[in-house]
Amino acid sequence: MHCGILVLFISLFLTLVGPCELLDNGLAKSPPMGWIAWERFRCTTDCNVYPDNCISEDLFMAMADKLVEDGWKDLGYQYVNIDDCWSALVRDVNGKLQADQDRFPNGIKKLAEYIHSKGLKLGIYGDLGHSTCGGYLGTLPETIDIDANTFAEWEVDMVKLDGCNSNSTERSIGYPKMSHALNSTGRAILYSCSWPAYEDGLPPKVNYTLIGQLCNLWRNYDDINDSWDKVKAIINWFGDHQEDLQPAAGPGRWNDPDMLIVGNFGLSQDQSKAQLAIWAILAAPFFMSNDLRTISDDAMNLLQNKLLIHIDQDKLGQQGVRIKKDQDFQLWKRKLSHGQFALAYLNTADLGEARSFTLSLSPLHIEDCSLGYNIYDVFDKQLVAFLTSNHTHSFRVNPTSVVLFFIRPVC
Ligand code: GAL
Repeated sequence: MHCGILVLFISLFLTLVGPCELLDNGLAKSPPMGWIAWERFRCTTDCNVYPDNCISEDLFMAMADKLVEDGWKDLGYQYVNIDDCWSALVRDVNGKLQADQDRFPNGIKKLAEYIHSKGLKLGIYGDLGHSTCGGYLGTLPETIDIDANTFAEWEVDMVKLDGCNSNSTERSIGYPKMSHALNSTGRAILYSCSWPAYEDGLPPKVNYTLIGQLCNLWRNYDDINDSWDKVKAIINWFGDHQEDLQPAAGPGRWNDPDMLIVGNFGLSQDQSKAQLAIWAILAAPFFMSNDLRTISDDAMNLLQNKLLIHIDQDKLGQQGVRIKKDQDFQLWKRKLSHGQFALAYLNTADLGEARSFTLSLSPLHIEDCSLGYNIYDVFDKQLVAFLTSNHTHSFRVNPTSVVLFFIRPVC
């Protein structure tokens, strides 16, 4: 369709549905946190071969148990999210989505009850298209209302709507329609749209003002996988396009650089810190996709770092930006509430030794508090310096790693 006609069509659609139809669920005032199956467990459906790792109600119940037992829930990780490959291959006699009966013998509503009994929330996955990316039941325009109502009947708390097997026009109608349908259920359901990721993530194809009115969070870019290369590519893409992305985020509406893969096989401890630091600077949703039953103490320590979570969840809700970059180094800065800041020194070199840096606040425009600032190293969990405009702090950053500072004024 010609671009002008498409824009006209979307404007007309929005005029017809009116402003009261915009998503208004009061959710995600800070970036949502939880656990999601996809990156770690993919579309594993053979429960005979993989009894502990297949996409089944047992897996989600086990993760819910761990979220509570191991203190995750108390730190804010509250969503337990089903991703692709949960459904049967056909709808029920009433045209409703249904779960695979062997792997979810008690159905999604019972699973939601279990998750809620633990004080957690349940997320589910759908796809705007004739089938999901994994080939399971999709949501076509004519089933959007029925699917939204089914999710609400099941007492689901979040819907991630993927976009495989759809075209741009279908997405421009379907994503707003699902937003409206979820709103109309009367249940507060967090809405994650993969819409921008299917339109190359950038204006003019993506209208972030509109997306922010319709969705609570949205995937902008490619899927993550279990590798440092992919983490680095995502970091670079978010830095390269920050002028378009940064203003889109705020309380209730977040860019989503994709899942946290810390605790899996692909990242070293240093690289894990880098993912977490930049995701916190980006005010990203913190959805872990790992195995909470076998996660190492080291990975758990990183993911449970309270100051890191505090930065990610900061009430101002302002996404940070990359303020310096050379071939092997990036400096990221996020303005936080109460005159606080976070700074991430990212060493992207993968050769050689730790590189040394000097922190001086004035050149970074951190100078409003003339009495000075306390500087905390987030991963070392200690106060490392007190700086006024006359002082500097020197430190080193390992290759493919980061030093993340939390900066608090003493004023
Ligand atoms: C992708 C999506 C992933 C995952 C997968 C499931 O398109 O970006 O996050 O949901 O589909 O098949």
